Amino acid sequence: MSRISYLNGKFLPHDDCLVPIDDRGLQFGDGVYEVILFKNNKLIDSNPHIERLFRSLNEVKISHNFDKEFFQNLAKELFQKNNLKKGSIYLQISRGVMNRIQNCPTGFEPTVVATVSPLKNFSQEEFEEGISVITSDDIRWHRVDIKSLNLLPAVLTNQKAKDLNFNDAIFVRDGFVTEGTFANVFIVDKNDTVITRNADNFILQGITRNRIIDLAKKRNLKVEERKFGVEELTNAKEVFLTSSTLILRSVTKVNDKIISNKAGEISKLLREDYLNFIG
Ligand code: PDD
Repeated sequence: MSRISYLNGKFLPHDDCLVPIDDRGLQFGDGVYEVILFKNNKLIDSNPHIERLFRSLNEVKISHNFDKEFFQNLAKELFQKNNLKKGSIYLQISRGVMNRIQNCPTGFEPTVVATVSPLKNFSQEEFEEGISVITSDDIRWHRVDIKSLNLLPAVLTNQKAKDLNFNDAIFVRDGFVTEGTFANVFIVDKNDTVITRNADNFILQGITRNRIIDLAKKRNLKVEERKFGVEELTNAKEVFLTSSTLILRSVTKVNDKIISNKAGEISKLLREDYLNFIG
């Protein structure tokens, strides 16, 4: 069965979903997106994801009349058409198609694109082994709280890590950790306090991040949402990344510092709690 995707009201074979050259997403990265997990016929944390999508649209002033049900139904139909029970959906909305002009006029139809993919599974052993990251200057703009299409700094930094034989990178701005290239960062200190940066304009407020905070509190763990620097990161007992597609990935090496030989206890517990939450 060929892969089916969605473009502006139509479900089409993936390769037939063609966007015009003058699409603002293509020429300016002028648009926003969401990635949401799907399992057992439902989107995971669908309300906060769709609310964040509406917030992103609002922040970049893309006017629209979508409602939550539109995206929920679109996702269900697309997963059904691709015969997928579990995976993730990528939703992208650009300002639309218009001549290449430098401001952002209103009154155009936004372009809506959606694709679904199976989840990349990794084994318990891979989870236990964890990943390695470098720290790298955060070269992104000052509004990464908006999930916009402008991902070049993240892509280049992710590649820089891979070129150095690391798995990923953690961004640092003004001496403080912001987030991963495509994930939020948590540390656990020697007192088992779970710490992640407060949600300001220098991080994306991850939906997985928020859920993990909630699950940690339910376990009566102390949680602090505050800034922390590279020293606190490298001296942490545990480090992990969270995102909709990674769920929770343990970081066992930061630059040349080994954090631990394998995934830490709290990382394991919180990952299990999250897997139980999604069912
Ligand atoms: N990205 N920070 C950044 C910069 C991200 O790109 C992401 C997710 C997150 C985590 O957000 P959430 O928990 O809501 O997925 C944090 C998605 C998965 C992506 O771009 O593929």
